[in-house]
Parts: sequence; C-alpha cells; structure tokens
Amino acid sequence: MTTPEELVRLAKEARAKAYVPYSGFAVGAALLCKDGTIYQGCNIENAAFGPTICAERVAVFKAVYDGQRDFEAIAVAGGRAGEEITGLFPPCGVCRQVLREFCGLDFKLYLAREDEQFETRTLEQLLPMSFSPADMK
Ligand code: THU
Repeated sequence: MTTPEELVRLAKEARAKAYVPYSGFAVGAALLCKDGTIYQGCNIENAAFGPTICAERVAVFKAVYDGQRDFEAIAVAGGRAGEEITGLFPPCGVCRQVLREFCGLDFKLYLAREDEQFETRTLEQLLPMSFSPADMK
C-alpha cells in the first residue's frame, strides 16, 4: 500500500525530469492507480509556449495509454528547478479538469509543501460544481 508520504516523495523525484528552459519551474507528479501502479510525470515546455504540458497531465496520459482509468490519488510538487520546494503547489485548472474526466469527487490530491510537508484536498474541494462525463448524458 503506497502511503501519501511515498507518493509525495515520488512526485518530488519526478521533478528532476522536467524540461523547463523557459520558466525554470520544475513540476513533478505521481499518480496512484487503484491497482497500485504509479505513474510519474513532469512538465515539458515548448518554445512556442502553448504546447507546454503540465506534469499532472503527463502522468494521467501515460496511465490512460497503458489502459488505466481508475485512480486513487495524485501527489504534485513544484518549485524552482534545481531547488527544494519552498511552498504549497496547487495544480492548474486544466489539470483539475483532466483529472475530473477519470476521477470521482473523493479523489485525493497531496499538495507538496516545504520539507516533508504536504496538504490533502479532494477533487471536489479543488474543482467545485465540476463538469464531468456524467453531465454529457
Ligand atoms: N505547471 C505544471 O506542470 N502543473 C501545473 O499544475 C501548473 C503549471 C507547469 C507548466 C509550466 O511548465 C510551468 O509549470 C510554469 O507554469
């Protein structure tokens, strides 16, 4: 059983892979599937800026490509590349919406802070009154 602490550690580990020549802001994510598999992601930037993709979506898309669609939790960690995290890192709105495509309102997000600290939120807290696949029925 993966603990939140371990998932946060894996999100921080993933930051090392970030390709961030423009922002210098390295983000890592670790997505826990209900079967226990973990997918890591990092942000990957682009000279045209628009094609840049966030760490969370890299992790989700890697998982979905592998056939995974049931997710338990995600840990995210962001801060200046090459430095330790200095404060809370909250996921962007686009990533929250991408998570909502596959995750229930009780899906957990562990938001890394400085040192070994993190804060826990549900998807419902971070994306209230969300538009989801159920709303397309
Ligand atoms: N970024 C993420 O990877 N995840 C988020 O949720 C917010 C922002 C990245 C995108 C860009 O490479 C850098 O952080 C600065 O915005």
